[in-house]
Amino acid sequence: MGYNVAVDGPAGAGKSTIAKLVAKEKNYIYVDTGAMYRAMAIHFLGKGIAPENVADVAGACQDADVTIDYEDGIQQVYLNGENVTDRLRTEEVGNMASKTSQIPAVREKLLELQRGLAREKDVIMDGRDIGTCILPDADVKIYLTASVETRARRRFEELKEKGILCDFDEIARDIKERDERDMNRATAPLRKADDAHLVDSSHMTIEEVVSAICGYCK
Ligand code: DC
Repeated sequence: MGYNVAVDGPAGAGKSTIAKLVAKEKNYIYVDTGAMYRAMAIHFLGKGIAPENVADVAGACQDADVTIDYEDGIQQVYLNGENVTDRLRTEEVGNMASKTSQIPAVREKLLELQRGLAREKDVIMDGRDIGTCILPDADVKIYLTASVETRARRRFEELKEKGILCDFDEIARDIKERDERDMNRATAPLRKADDAHLVDSSHMTIEEVVSAICGYCK
């Protein structure tokens, strides 16, 4: 069994930024499980399946093969042998992933892939249900959060830097909706594991968050 650090929290809390930095500092492999749900979403979009059509989504899981590889330490995601890493981060794919990740067949499909990685390697794995469902015996569990306002402001700045015009209130509304969906779904809802350390990054710098999390790890 590898050394396992589980990081859960809502969208926009900075999980991936922080987990990548902790991985570098501690020499763990960073596993981004959201990317796996996004790869599944690309599969469903390619087949033209509506996320409301649970039976078709479940059926389509059977011919989806998601695998992970690392190039220069950076996670690459393959869908049926094709590297889809560059296509994961669009709004369309994110929305499809948010809706289809509620479907038990989709979660079951990715469970073994996630557990297998944690068995073999020292990992810091981020997602929504890592400490509660995927790795209930993780060595360290972190619940990383920040206020809706802070998360919306960070997203707004990130988009502005990329030259993308956006409306702050719309971003905040989107974040609230995603929280609502992730926290209130029937299967593996987002919640803090009882034994997770709560880290609220609303008033912390990236360095402070990384240092706090590293302090919990071996
Ligand atoms: O973290 P992200 O935005 O890349 O995740 C995409 C979607 O996948 C998100 O809406 C929630 C879902 N997800 C999940 O249900 N469980 C995980 N372990 C990771 C992500």
